Amino acid sequence: MNDLIIHNIGKLYNPDPGKFGKIGITEKCSVIIKNGLIDEIIPAEVEINAVRLEHFDVQDAKGMSVLPGFVDSHAHPIFAALRNNEFEMRNAGMSYLDIAKAGGGIKNSVKKLRAMTEDELFKISSSRIKEFMRSGTTTLEAKSGYGLTLDDEIKMLKVIRRLNDKFDIDFIPTFLGAHDVPEEFKDDREGYISLLINEMIPKVAADKLAVACDIFIEKNYYTIVEGRRILQAAKDHGLGVKIHADQMTCTGAGELAAELGALSADHLEYISDEAIDKMIKQNVVFNLMPGSSFFLGMRDFPPARKIIEKGGICALSTDFNPGTCYCYSLPFIMTVSAIYLKMTAAEILWASTLGGAKALGLEKEIGSIEKGKKADLLVMKVNELSEIPYSMGMNLVRKVIKNGKVVN
Ligand code: NIG
Ligand code: FE
Repeated sequence: MNDLIIHNIGKLYNPDPGKFGKIGITEKCSVIIKNGLIDEIIPAEVEINAVRLEHFDVQDAKGMSVLPGFVDSHAHPIFAALRNNEFEMRNAGMSYLDIAKAGGGIKNSVKKLRAMTEDELFKISSSRIKEFMRSGTTTLEAKSGYGLTLDDEIKMLKVIRRLNDKFDIDFIPTFLGAHDVPEEFKDDREGYISLLINEMIPKVAADKLAVACDIFIEKNYYTIVEGRRILQAAKDHGLGVKIHADQMTCTGAGELAAELGALSADHLEYISDEAIDKMIKQNVVFNLMPGSSFFLGMRDFPPARKIIEKGGICALSTDFNPGTCYCYSLPFIMTVSAIYLKMTAAEILWASTLGGAKALGLEKEIGSIEKGKKADLLVMKVNELSEIPYSMGMNLVRKVIKNGKVVN
């Protein structure tokens, strides 16, 4: 691979690892990339002599801004079919939990995914990925959780592995076998939980099909006591842990995330003040997904201002899935975050880059523009940072560079 220089950069926006929400700005500079990694940021006045330039591929940013690639740290991009009918049912007045009780929701997605072969699932999932990249996502978490049998969960995780090989985006696989209790175990929860603990988690960890384990702790899904057992088993097998927590009711899952030293607790619409304090103490990332509150038409959003003022580290992610947020665009989520979470543009960029990286345990490799980190960069037609959340539903990404290669 040739080394790359991006020159003629108007402004380089870079999250400061030392402080949540702080963004450094370097005007008029170039970035040098070697072996797919960031090597140096040099001021434009420093003459880059022709001899040196010969050894580089040159990309002209044309005075636009350069930012780190977006890190989408919570997504469910592997599914068989859309659920737009449920969207309509909700808009006609039914709630997410009511639709789920009537056989829709996760159970609907499980039924359809089980009926697909791995190849079919790979094909349909592939068709979704380019849009993420075009919107600036360079790292994408991908969860299982619509299979809920050992074979179907492995089918999903294998699809994620194949997508990782096929596309330039890096996929970070998460096992979500505890997304729901499958229909066939509805009178034997303990049977499914012991399958998770004794067979599924050990197999997924041994075959390195996932790096973390997630669970949906919620009324009608999993309890705190069950969550503690399942996630402890995951930790014992060397997996990172994370939780869909306090999304629709306050369950205490934020506290459990702190107790277990989770990477992140995600959603958090109904998190308590005590849980916020405990998560901050244990350095658990607050992974916020206001796109799903928005898409579900919820009145309540996660208390981002309170979390930030207490000193919490936030990530922002899409939660892309067919039920609660059919949106692959982190920039759109940024608009929702500004309006409903009252986050500033600088906090939003930090949360969507370095915050996402922290939520995945990858802050040493991605999320900011520092020597030795992966050269995952965006050229965006932006002058002031607030133009990103302000530009609702617009795509200002003009170039995507992944591992030092121009991919879009
Ligand atoms: O993050 N809350 C649980 N899981 C997903 C929704 C899954 C679905 O409805 O298919 C979420 O919102
Ligand atoms: Fe989710």
